[in-house]
Amino acid sequence: MKFFIDTANLDQIREAQALGILDGVTTNPSLMAKEGITGADNILKHYVDICDIVDGDVSAEVIATDYDGMIREGEALAALHPQIVVKIPMIKDGVKACKYFSDKGIKTNVTLIFSAGQALLAAKAGATYMSPFIGRLDDISTDGLGLISEIRLIYDNYGFTTQILAASVRHTMHIMDCAKIGADVMTGPLKAIEGLLKHPLTDIGLAQFLADYKKGN
Ligand code: E4P
Repeated sequence: MKFFIDTANLDQIREAQALGILDGVTTNPSLMAKEGITGADNILKHYVDICDIVDGDVSAEVIATDYDGMIREGEALAALHPQIVVKIPMIKDGVKACKYFSDKGIKTNVTLIFSAGQALLAAKAGATYMSPFIGRLDDISTDGLGLISEIRLIYDNYGFTTQILAASVRHTMHIMDCAKIGADVMTGPLKAIEGLLKHPLTDIGLAQFLADYKKGN
């Protein structure tokens, strides 16, 4: 399973990259705003800064919601850097735009997926990635991980190559459950990724090893 970090915070991206396990980054307009990145020029520059830190794919979201606008913005985003993946909302014009970009060989990430039907459409339109938001489904007492299982089944039934990018991952157990189900990618906060490191027996064992070493030296 690929690990993406879901943030526009450059320090956190650097930290995840330094860990050596990072495969890419997802952003969205809310994450950009959270970092105080506003205005088209600053946002575009920020995407390039992110690409300069990581080796993998970096999702950059279009703001337009009409077909022509999405094509215009998506082409400009894709031209910014070879690592850019054009992130498109799951709406009617978004599906058309996804098909356009996939025909042109431009990578896409169809976002705001909340049902298996939407996932099927994204795959039919040739999306590189599609992002089911599991945490937001959990927030409304709906089974987010259940959706990942359903999509996995459908994609495997037909050999769709669109990658299931489990998004809106909120905690470490979400990551583990996505791995068990067979999500291709997960995107989550640094805290959830670092949670995988922790085990009290590791800390106790290491303290013991160090104490025993000191006895003999
Ligand atoms: C995905 O690409 C989105 O940026 C993100 O995962 C949304 O997560 P949230 O529900 O925690 O805002």
